[in-house]
Amino acid sequence: MGVLASGSGSNLQALLDRFNLGDDSWARVAIVVGSGPGIGALDRARAAAVPVAIAPPPGPDAPARPERDAAYLLEHLEAAGVELVVLAGYLRLIPQEVVRRYWGRMINIHPALLPSFGGRGLYGRRVHEAVLAAGCRVTGVTIHFVSEEYDRGPIVAQWPVPVFEDDDVSALATRVLRVEHRLLPSVVHAVARGWVSLTRGGRCVWSRPLYGQDRFSMPVDGAIPAPVEPAAR
Ligand code: GRF
Repeated sequence: MGVLASGSGSNLQALLDRFNLGDDSWARVAIVVGSGPGIGALDRARAAAVPVAIAPPPGPDAPARPERDAAYLLEHLEAAGVELVVLAGYLRLIPQEVVRRYWGRMINIHPALLPSFGGRGLYGRRVHEAVLAAGCRVTGVTIHFVSEEYDRGPIVAQWPVPVFEDDDVSALATRVLRVEHRLLPSVVHAVARGWVSLTRGGRCVWSRPLYGQDRFSMPVDGAIPAPVEPAAR
């Protein structure tokens, strides 16, 4: 898989720990593309001996250059043999050509329950600020396939996280992030195994459900329920 990141890379680390450094070595992170130099995700990749690439900076007079960015991404992902792309806190819009090439094979993780609290400008702490400002009692994590719009592709998996009375942004972000680190490797595993497919109508169908009713509960006081993964054949 190829991982695209813009931040500290704690979700990348969860993938590295399971696939590159852990027992699940049938899949692995083959390249990490950073949206700029000096980000934590690149340090984590290098520490795990994973090749890195740094996306070219946006032009001085234009916020993005989709054709150049598409060429860069496709060149690096294909050279690394990438079959699945994971956006783990990547803040740049994915060019149309890349979305089409990896349709159904590119996922993004978002720290709220989409379709609420997503879209342009809703990333990082801003997501949790908006959740708190709205007075939500429940938030969560969404993993979805990437489409040409921010945070709007077909939903693959979600997990709820409670919002407590005395939460501030940091407390909430920390609780959500712990769930992200549990959910993302399990969903990557399932997608990579081919257990998730897309209908013509653009909805996800799981051939082996990731969790049953008995295990679908919210995390409280640090106890993070784990998805029950179907065994690989
Ligand atoms: C995560 O909250 C993820 O959901 C969002 O960006 C953040 C990335 O955090 N898309 P990290 O860089 O993986 O620590």
